[in-house]
Amino acid sequence: MKITVIGAGNVGATAAQRIIEKELAHHVALVDVVEGVPQGKGLDMYESAPIELFDTKIVGTNGYDETAGSDIILITAGIARKPGMSRDDLQNTNAGIVKDVTEKAVAKSPHAIIIVVSNPLDVMTYVAYIRSGFPANRVMGMAGVLDTARFRTFIAMELDVSVQDVNAFVLGGHGDSMVPVIKYTTIAGIPIKELLPADKIKALSDRARNGGIEIVNFLKTGSAYYAPSAAAVEMIESIVKDRKRILPCAAYLTGQYGLNDVYCGVPVKLGKDGIEQIIEIKLDDDDLKALHKSAEEVKTNCAKLKFD
Ligand code: APR
Repeated sequence: MKITVIGAGNVGATAAQRIIEKELAHHVALVDVVEGVPQGKGLDMYESAPIELFDTKIVGTNGYDETAGSDIILITAGIARKPGMSRDDLQNTNAGIVKDVTEKAVAKSPHAIIIVVSNPLDVMTYVAYIRSGFPANRVMGMAGVLDTARFRTFIAMELDVSVQDVNAFVLGGHGDSMVPVIKYTTIAGIPIKELLPADKIKALSDRARNGGIEIVNFLKTGSAYYAPSAAAVEMIESIVKDRKRILPCAAYLTGQYGLNDVYCGVPVKLGKDGIEQIIEIKLDDDDLKALHKSAEEVKTNCAKLKFD
């Protein structure tokens, strides 16, 4: 098992660290455009092996030769939105980056499974799908696991219970329009509506929806990376170990939930073949409407992409 992580920034480097410490691969290649950074971070991480006791080799590089034959490619390359930069500008810049790294990576690893983390997530996953030419089961985006983890954390904090007992699904695009599905939110199997009043539940789901901004407001520069990297690695683990976890991921829809030709967060079964099944849960009308609205926004943004 070989894993390539593209982007040796906060999310990429932390994901690489989690991967090697969990020994999810024999080899990890950490790629970045900035000279020295992936090499330095990779070597620093490798030097922790005798202490953390893992045998995974990690190498940092500015090229793609070392990535050849990867089973999984995690794309975290991109830039953060800067002051004065519109969402469209950010999308154009990161689309250029994701196009470039996808083409270079798939040329060396034609059988890999791609997981995209770069934002705007659903649009960047679509870019990787188009540019890789891979079947849709091998190209997915990480958003739902993170959004759901945030929601689960807030519920556990509110009820003072173990996060392990909180189950939830946050679906839709990764952004303001994401859809926390209350109907399937349970605590040790007990529907959340039996434990919390509606206004409290709404406040918690609103907080989850704004979870990314909450962290940015604290950090001032940069955005969240501990939970995003953990979420990406949970997906990788399910694939590497063929665990067949049911996780909310950005998947390419071809009619499911009445949506077509769009990447959107839905529950999927993740195993050795990537997305092995898209699971269609029964949604209330309001949630389905919200899912469609969210997918519509993704589509509108995808329509602005220019593929040469
Ligand atoms: N090839 C390889 N690496 C690149 C390229 C490229 N063409 N362009 C940029 N990078 C690298 C940068 O050099 C940087 O090291 O991507 C890295 C991004 O790291 P950070 O700026 O630390 O951003 P991070 O917090 O890791 O977020 C990465 O994930 O969650 C999303 O919105 C976030 O799109 C962003 C991405």
